[in-house]
Amino acid sequence: MDSILVRSNGPLKGQIPIAGAKNACLTLMPATLLSEEPLTLTNAPRLSDIRTMTQLLQSLGSEVTSLQEGRVLAMSSHGPVNTHADYDIVRKMRASNLVLGPLLAREGIAEVSLPGGCAIGARPMDIHTDGLAQMGAEIELRDGYLHAKAAGGRLKGAVIDFPFASVGATENIMMAATLAKGTTVINNAAREPEIVDLATCLRAMGAQIEGDGTSSITVQGVERMHGATHPVVTDRIELGTYMLAPAICGGEVELLGGRINLLAAFCEKLDAAGIAVSETERGLTVARKNGDIRAVDVTTEPFPGFPTDLQAQIMALLCTAEGTSVLEEKIFENRFMHAPELIRMGARIEVHGGTATVTGVDKLRGAPVMATDLRASVSLILAGLAAEGETKVSRVYHLDRGYEHVVAKLRGVGANIERIKDA
Ligand code: UD1
Repeated sequence: MDSILVRSNGPLKGQIPIAGAKNACLTLMPATLLSEEPLTLTNAPRLSDIRTMTQLLQSLGSEVTSLQEGRVLAMSSHGPVNTHADYDIVRKMRASNLVLGPLLAREGIAEVSLPGGCAIGARPMDIHTDGLAQMGAEIELRDGYLHAKAAGGRLKGAVIDFPFASVGATENIMMAATLAKGTTVINNAAREPEIVDLATCLRAMGAQIEGDGTSSITVQGVERMHGATHPVVTDRIELGTYMLAPAICGGEVELLGGRINLLAAFCEKLDAAGIAVSETERGLTVARKNGDIRAVDVTTEPFPGFPTDLQAQIMALLCTAEGTSVLEEKIFENRFMHAPELIRMGARIEVHGGTATVTGVDKLRGAPVMATDLRASVSLILAGLAAEGETKVSRVYHLDRGYEHVVAKLRGVGANIERIKDA
């Protein structure tokens, strides 16, 4: 298994290109099931999660071809579709559940393994299944699988009030509603840029959707969807992660393809912490304003609030800030696993339930560390850039799920980082 070695770093300088969004691509890919005509995604990220979704779609009978070294995904679901999404693939990645809505919409039937919990929390699927049930699906849990069947063979429109603005449930219901009979309204829908990206792609395929980006989405079902070519939106989480590199090390880095509106709440916190962010023609530049980092309080919330997927990374920055920061995690119940690892590097962090209190120290010190999820792993790399000595981050397969070429991208701006094979 590989590890990543990070050594303390001086100021960073240069540019980092930001890839297409993993989370958008993972929901756009199952949209191929909604049409017999080809769906082509450009600006796709090259990640192991995308390969897992490719495998899943292929197991369902879709053709998925990776072109231009993975930057373009050409998909077609013109043949017969297998409606069984197997545990062996689904257990690898929770986002596999995003085939449920499209399968049910297309075939009127689906058997999708429940993904199970993951390191950051239990992550149930009740909001997805309750919504689909309101659209006329009969859903039963048997042998670890959700067995879903649309009464009369076709889903029908419904007014669905979500108890929480779940991203995945909004995506699943939106896709299911495109081919349902009648009109579906999703109230308290998620507003993430990935939802808007999915709606844009579905509209290009012939769907009738309004209100994406607001908390009420209306989908008028159509008889048939057609093919489309769609560019995947910029990965705001990769963007925010790399914005923190010059914030932590000093220097100035331009993030190509970045825009402030993807991350307004995050940019406000950086500003309060003493980091200047400005838009350029090609993206965003990030640099410290005048030296020290100041403590800031952060509460994670659904979009447009501060993203839970950047909580671990900003904690790495705040470990050496002046003063005490309070981080409240409101989306996932167990998302501070990076804290004990940061403590091993000399950070002062106390965790009580969903709240972490971080008191800045002068310096972190390098140490061997590991993490149990994707964003936690990258936060340890960021902390390693600020730490004295050497930090060895193991279990890097988590990173490969969500960050393409992390070593090359950081080396490109002067970071002292390498990937090594463990003996
Ligand atoms: C997506 C993102 C993930 C991000 C999260 C929140 C993808 C592939 N993943 O995950 O990176 O961290 O949004 O921004 O896009 N919940 C329920 N019942 C449900 C569904 C969700 O209780 O049926 C709870 C979850 O357990 C969690 C919260 O709602 O506590 C948020 O989950 P949700 O918005 O659905 O996240 P995902 O779509 O799984």
